[in-house]
Amino acid sequence: MTSTTELGTSGSSAILSQDIEEIASLFTVTPTDSPTPDDERVAKLDSPKFGTVFSDHMARISWRRDDGWIHRRVEKYGPLQLDPATAVLHYGQEVFEGMKAYRHADGTVWTFRPEENAARLSRSAHRLALPALPVDDFIAACAVLVRTDIAWVPDAPDSSLYLRPFMFASEPFLGVRPADEVEFLVIASPSGAYFSGGVKPVSIWVDAEYHRAGPGGTGAAKCGGNYAASLLPQSEAATKGFDQVCFLDGGSNTYLEELGGMNVFLVMADGSVHTPELTGSILEGVTRSSILRLAADHGRDVVERRIPLTELVDGLRNGQVSEVFACGTAAVVTPVGRLAGETFDATVGTGEPGDLTMTIRRELTDIQYGRAADRHGWMRRLA
Ligand code: COI
Repeated sequence: MTSTTELGTSGSSAILSQDIEEIASLFTVTPTDSPTPDDERVAKLDSPKFGTVFSDHMARISWRRDDGWIHRRVEKYGPLQLDPATAVLHYGQEVFEGMKAYRHADGTVWTFRPEENAARLSRSAHRLALPALPVDDFIAACAVLVRTDIAWVPDAPDSSLYLRPFMFASEPFLGVRPADEVEFLVIASPSGAYFSGGVKPVSIWVDAEYHRAGPGGTGAAKCGGNYAASLLPQSEAATKGFDQVCFLDGGSNTYLEELGGMNVFLVMADGSVHTPELTGSILEGVTRSSILRLAADHGRDVVERRIPLTELVDGLRNGQVSEVFACGTAAVVTPVGRLAGETFDATVGTGEPGDLTMTIRRELTDIQYGRAADRHGWMRRLA
């Protein structure tokens, strides 16, 4: 891929690489015959609840075992017609991504490290025996959709057009084998804050009963099954009054893993920043890796290691752990104010958002929204 993407600051004339633009030109765009009227769209863009509002179009590429990736198009957003025997409905052969398109002050629209999401989608696809989608196809599909639905990219503070690329086995076949027919789609959902109420500390139940993944399983893949496995524990945590659930490793039930939809970080009293190492059952978060970089930029020691729950609990009690936060594309950086489990209930620091947590959150969003120089070359202009 030839790179012509550079500074993520607004005002740059950067566009996507020539290779990606060439793929983008292969997409057939068929505009919807019933576009959302302007006043209705403006109303929908006003503080939409996460994941409830969708733009007028979707991008789509089909795959056939004999033909590879074919039929690149953008078409009207709408229900998919699926045969009841469609493989994904039975065996869950599906993977997805989460990204955002950000409107900068000058009206240009950018996205964040899409190559990382594209590469992760292919790693997830490999684990689920789905075909790899070339990085350029992935980014081109996102770009063509955003350009078609540019009016759906909100400009309110902290808002964005959330992009949900996903791939699934579309072949109608009940045999248990990798499907010969697959669909890749990108849909777009204008969104404000992931948690209603904005940035405020969340409470977490550390679950010692259920696991979202096990050794050799699909934990590192972004596949629907991992999220399905987190729903019951999440509901039970909510019943106990907690916002989120944190999982321990499935092998020994000892070490922190992740929250199911977010990675987790600890800030220690000595200033170092620690996060569970990638053991194969933790999602390789793009936000996670960006935070490791930003924390290192601050001169902090960043440590990826196995973190025993007992160490976290002791550290919260004796002050060795001063901040805890969760992160992900949708939630960005979210402070954790309280952690509890069967045998403990601890406040994180004073229970208020920590200084480093909020600094990292601001630095990351300043880069994403073009308010700060893109010093790591993370931003890609889509429109
Ligand atoms: C994201 O952060 O984009 C995710 O995919 C997590 C999802 C559960 C909202």
